[in-house]
Amino acid sequence: MTSHANKGAAVGIPPRLLKFPLPEHAHDHPFFNQNVLASSMLSVMSAIFPSGERFFMESVRHFRDQIEDPVLKAQISGFIGQEAIHGREHEHLNEWFVSRGYDIGLAESTIKKSLGLLNKLPPSQRLACTVMMEHFTAILAEQWLTHDEFRDTSDPQALQLWTWHALEELEHKSVAFDVHRQVSQNPHFEKLLAAPLVFLTLTPGVTLSWLWVVYKQGHLLKWKENKRGFLALFGRKGFMTQCFKRIPEFFPRNHHPTDSDTKQLEDLWRKRLFGEEGELNHLY
Ligand SMILES: [Fe+2]
Ligand SMILES: [Fe+2]
Repeated sequence: MTSHANKGAAVGIPPRLLKFPLPEHAHDHPFFNQNVLASSMLSVMSAIFPSGERFFMESVRHFRDQIEDPVLKAQISGFIGQEAIHGREHEHLNEWFVSRGYDIGLAESTIKKSLGLLNKLPPSQRLACTVMMEHFTAILAEQWLTHDEFRDTSDPQALQLWTWHALEELEHKSVAFDVHRQVSQNPHFEKLLAAPLVFLTLTPGVTLSWLWVVYKQGHLLKWKENKRGFLALFGRKGFMTQCFKRIPEFFPRNHHPTDSDTKQLEDLWRKRLFGEEGELNHLY
């Protein structure tokens, strides 16, 4: 383990150097009962992660030398280490999606352009955008770990990488926030501004890229199948509906990522994945 990884591990944010095998035996459409629309959404998420993770790392790294608190400094090391490995593993998984006919090239190029725009912001506002996106990623992570329909109807091997990523997102969910709070002159205002900035910059490209993937699969007009996927994502108890409902948690002045207490959930999955008989121990 590198010294950065050791520092992160000492404060509960261990970068785990895992290598996931591609889910070769999984169905071409591995999520939500082999639904193309829903599986395509996961493919687009995976496509945007490598660039997204780099953006998160750089926006936090920019302020690393200004942080004096040794605990937060070590948390930054863990954060950067975890995000770097997430990016690498999603890049690998993206090869699998491409091999199964998922045309994620548009998603990869549009996210670079969108993040390029956010990169022009002043560093502190850029970090606020990372705080916003980390808030949403932590909500997504809770969904990946707890949404029954997602977990029960998706391919177990394809789920492994998402489960590991989810656990680590929860382990480091406060880091960007705590750095921003220390370095920003006006943290609340920047957070409020980050929400529309992120939404307007990312949503159109991501939505278009998702429809493009479905179109290239020849599934855009398969109404019945798409309705099934749409309801799984955006129905009353849908995967994404549950996430969107929680975005407002971000806005109150005294909000902190730990307000949503996920310690038990993290302990549960840490034990399942990396405990004595951990499901992923063999990937180290
Ligand atoms: Fe990540
Ligand atoms: Fe993250």
